[in-house]
Amino acid sequence: MGLKLIKNGTIVTASDMYKADILIEGEQVALIGTNLTYDNAEIIDAEGYYVMPGGVDPHTHLEMPFGGTVSKDDFETGTIAAAFGGTTTLIDFCITRKGESLQNPIREWHAKSKDKAVIDYSFHLMIGEINDEVMKELPVILKEEGITSFKVFMAYKDVFQADDGTLFQTLQTAKELGALVMVHAENGDVIDYLVNEALSAGNTAPIYHALTRPPEAEGEATARAAELTGLAGSQLYVVHVSCEESASKIKEAREKGYDVWGETCPQYLVLDQDKLDLPDFEGAKYVWSPPLREKWNQDKLWSALKNGSLQTIGSDQCSFDFDGQKTLGEGDFSKIPNGGPMIEDRFSILFSEGVKKGRISINQFVDMISTRSAKLFGMYPKKGTIAVGSDADIVLFDPVKERTISVDTHHMAVDYSAFEGMQVTGEPVTVLSRGEFVIKDQQFVGTLGAGQYIKRARYGERLVNQADRIALK
Ligand code: URP
Ligand code: ZN
Ligand code: ZN
Ligand code: ZN
Repeated sequence: MGLKLIKNGTIVTASDMYKADILIEGEQVALIGTNLTYDNAEIIDAEGYYVMPGGVDPHTHLEMPFGGTVSKDDFETGTIAAAFGGTTTLIDFCITRKGESLQNPIREWHAKSKDKAVIDYSFHLMIGEINDEVMKELPVILKEEGITSFKVFMAYKDVFQADDGTLFQTLQTAKELGALVMVHAENGDVIDYLVNEALSAGNTAPIYHALTRPPEAEGEATARAAELTGLAGSQLYVVHVSCEESASKIKEAREKGYDVWGETCPQYLVLDQDKLDLPDFEGAKYVWSPPLREKWNQDKLWSALKNGSLQTIGSDQCSFDFDGQKTLGEGDFSKIPNGGPMIEDRFSILFSEGVKKGRISINQFVDMISTRSAKLFGMYPKKGTIAVGSDADIVLFDPVKERTISVDTHHMAVDYSAFEGMQVTGEPVTVLSRGEFVIKDQQFVGTLGAGQYIKRARYGERLVNQADRIALK
């Protein structure tokens, strides 16, 4: 088995920061120590770099059918862009259809990803309804597919939205089976009413996407989901928290002792609602749900991350071209496909805006970008840390390198960047996935299909490699 030795770097995990070398044997970390030397190891010089666990992105939508089209980045371009951005594991949402076996979409998602993914991946499973068939399938899927997180949409009426009964039964079932329930928390019925009202009044521009999905609709749904979780004695993860109204509800639920977690995304931390008001329909580039909020919410989200009431950063990658996809909504904002290209810049934006600007510590950064998601979604310590026996998913990160984010240099397949022109400090230089280079000195050197599907442990349980202890010469 090939040996690689990362020398002279500064290892950063969710708890520590220290100078040490890392010996990789095959796919895993075999040894961490100072002044390691091995004649037969390939040396990777990490002088001047942080050596961090690869990012874990808990929230992506690759090649997802949505809004009459399909999100542009698939498991090939999406995972390559993710790797450039320091992410080595992602969890994509397997979208199910009511009245159909859950196994069909799972097969579809395997087919979409298998020969394309360049990094490891897993699936969350959308639950749109609960019936006898679903109840029979869930324990089997959990065991055989290792899918231990279920997603319920409280919005997108007549598309993905589930009712409160479905949410409550999903929470109860998840408690029984050991799964984590995720919610898209917005009140879909109220939004549907407001959207129709706006359109009837002739208000069709992109800004009305934000104005018809007010923060109260997110706060209300978050509080409802949290209370139902408390009632069921279950566990909940609120995806893409965009505003104070929702973050404060998560904080309250946690203070009551409910097992409730919250994720936010880079876009809510650095962009605001004014983007949707850009002329020439350009606001459509910033249409996703929940919408961008008034700027003052950003400070609230940063402090929620710092004080622990929000714990993770997902990208909510769901990219559409401006030309031909976003433009489907010209003349009717409700027809703009919802989502944006975010997978590549999650790591850099959080580091630059968070660590460099003193809003979070570097250990908090690693926790939010990698470790916490690995733990919550049953992949730790195989993923999410640098430790003996863990997968050698490692990022060599240059903390002083400066870069301007642009569509001209990004690796996603879409025709615009939501962060165009933004200056960031810090960039992944070299990325290893299970001991193999995917990005080497900022060049893609990975292999399509090298990414493996991960069967995850139940909520609260650990996922360990059965790595043989190595025999070193
Ligand atoms: O607008 C978004 N976020 N699109 C992706 C689907 C979802 O709601 O997460
Ligand atoms: Zn959502
Ligand atoms: Zn979602
Ligand atoms: Zn999403």
